[in-house]
Amino acid sequence: MQDGFGRQVDYLRVSITDRCNERCGYCMPEDHHDWLPKGQILSYEEIISVVKTAVSVGFRRFRITGGEPLVRRDVLPFVQRLCALQGVESVSMTTNATLLAPVADDLRRAGVSSLNISLDALDEDLYHQLTHGRLPDALAGIDAARRAGFPSIKLNTVLIKNANEGQLWPIVNFAAERGLVPRFIELMPLSSLEMIGPDRFFSAQQARDILQRNDQLEPLPDAKLGHGPARYYRLKKLGITVGFISAMTDEHFCETCNKMRLTADGFVRPCLGNHGELDLKPALRHASPPRTVRDVFEEALRDKPRDHVFGTTYTPLRIMTAIGG
Ligand code: 5AD
Ligand code: SF4
Repeated sequence: MQDGFGRQVDYLRVSITDRCNERCGYCMPEDHHDWLPKGQILSYEEIISVVKTAVSVGFRRFRITGGEPLVRRDVLPFVQRLCALQGVESVSMTTNATLLAPVADDLRRAGVSSLNISLDALDEDLYHQLTHGRLPDALAGIDAARRAGFPSIKLNTVLIKNANEGQLWPIVNFAAERGLVPRFIELMPLSSLEMIGPDRFFSAQQARDILQRNDQLEPLPDAKLGHGPARYYRLKKLGITVGFISAMTDEHFCETCNKMRLTADGFVRPCLGNHGELDLKPALRHASPPRTVRDVFEEALRDKPRDHVFGTTYTPLRIMTAIGG
């Protein structure tokens, strides 16, 4: 279905929890402990019912996110149900992979076709400093995902100045050796930390400059490896595809936006970079709601903003884990 700007919207990112076992500085303040109360989080039953309505209004592709989706209990039976729903054409997951190793096979068998794995550094100390997690756990998750045979595994690296510039080549080489697709993401102002201040930002172009010192980058204007706004390039000598998500510096970034978000606490968020959210809970939980889940989706589609406002008026009200990564 089309939004008010003629964009085809058929991709829903479904956050199933705001909790995370890590604490990436750009996503969550150091002292964050205001997790959403359990009763505010949609039950799996409610999420499945929202997805059924989403399918009926035209959504076809779904991504399970969090927080960290694998911290939620009984995630496997939920994923199995989601993948089996009629009209659900593809299910992917975004994860930090630290809890992935024991469940990778089951997720693949359930029907998850693609994984986006956060990997901000390959240096153990730096990884810990940036994410508070343990690199060996993430690497074990990545290995398990490869063995499980996911058709697509992408590595997501958030670009953080004075932190992981030196990691770009190690990550690209790591990906090349394993047939994975690395993607570099510009830091967005999604947390209330100094972590996201201007002294932490470096652009996708600067990342390309670093890679071009040792290889040649050729744009692949037609590459479509995921559902998102990444632009892909080919590193000529290494022979590997690399993606860049220029949320902050590409003025055309939002032109082909095809997605909306369902937050863990039951709001439809038409745009990551605008505060507007529409509450689904009355439609789900009240006996005679003023409007249905379908009405809410239709309004979200009508009101989807043309662009994010990260560069101008945006200040974070909700941290990234609450919105859905
Ligand atoms: N800027 C850019 N990307 C972010 N993510 C989380 N917070 C930010 C931010 N402030 C993305 C990263 C991470 C995923 C879960 O969400 O890609 O891998
Ligand atoms: Fe789409 Fe909003 Fe993201 Fe832009 S910021 S790409 S409109 S979700």
